[in-house]
Amino acid sequence: MSLIEKAVERLSKLKQAGGEEAPDAPAGEAAVVESGASATAQRTVPPQAPRSPSQRRVWGASSARSVELDLARLTEVGMVTPEQPRSVIAEEYRVIKRPLLRNAQGRSAGAIDNANLIMVTSSLPGEGKSFTSINLAMSIAMELDHTVLLVDADFARPSILPALGLPPQKGLMDVLVGEVSDLSEVLLRTNVEKLSILPAGMPHQRATELIASEAMNRMLEEMATRYSERIIIFDSPPLLATTEARVLATHMGQVVVVVESGRTTHGTVKQALATIESCPVKLLVLNKATEGGRGNLYGYGYGYGYGYGTDSRTETAA
Ligand SMILES: Nc1ncnc2c1ncn2[C@@H]1O[C@H](COP(=O)(O)OP(=O)(O)OP(=O)(O)O)[C@@H](O)[C@H]1O
Ligand SMILES: [Mg+2]
Repeated sequence: MSLIEKAVERLSKLKQAGGEEAPDAPAGEAAVVESGASATAQRTVPPQAPRSPSQRRVWGASSARSVELDLARLTEVGMVTPEQPRSVIAEEYRVIKRPLLRNAQGRSAGAIDNANLIMVTSSLPGEGKSFTSINLAMSIAMELDHTVLLVDADFARPSILPALGLPPQKGLMDVLVGEVSDLSEVLLRTNVEKLSILPAGMPHQRATELIASEAMNRMLEEMATRYSERIIIFDSPPLLATTEARVLATHMGQVVVVVESGRTTHGTVKQALATIESCPVKLLVLNKATEGGRGNLYGYGYGYGYGYGTDSRTETAA
């Protein structure tokens, strides 16, 4: 039975079981979880006090600029938004975010370093990484206890801002090359109260090198520890097309690997997973699947994952 077939079988079993919550997963695994459960019983970790005035300046949200997301339009194109908290896609993302949040809150069997840093990637281009990143970020931001920072870490093909209907803006790359002195200048608050965006910024030839730089290491460590209550989602490039995603993955507590149903083969997924072997938690999301009709949930096996179906018209992978 292929990876994808196992996925379909696993989540349909779950669904039949009436959406009971799976037991807490040990570190390194994230079990399939319930769909549609209330998201209010989350444990929060209090933010640590700022260590120095300069750090306060870098991370303080007060100077962040604001952007207005057109939530009606995003709802219309099938994204998760607070305007439709009970839509099919919102329910699907409840299932997807649950194990990630559980790990981020340290509620799984073993603690995971930097579990609040979550990278969304895939084997190949176009499998739905940005779509997944945005919906996941929006879904988590709709929880009572979580603030979310959505980082566009696909420096070669930034697509978070265009996907949200926003014009290009300066971002992370501009901070890394020193053209912007601190992160707060490029952080964007949104009209979804708990959702902020860090754009990729201007394209740069040395992107790969910069991602692997000491400055980037420091920035990521800072993000993970000083704002441990904040979930940080990185929309990243595909694993098999560039080296950036692999480098980025070494900093992440959790990696979500999007698998496009009907297109990406078992062998390709295995090859992609091999590039991020050292990452403590890897979760697969089966994307663009339609078996069982629009919006039906079904996922994959592989020991630590889940998936979901959507309204796109692709065939289920064999
Ligand atoms: N589940 C889905 N349902 C409907 N449309 C989807 C779904 N997933 C992705 N898409 C659409 O497919 C296209 C590609 O998705 P997306 O841009 O998220 O892929 P990507 O993996 O980020 O691509 P790239 O490798 O170029 O960054 C987009 O138009 C997106 O809106
Ligand atoms: Mg993308």
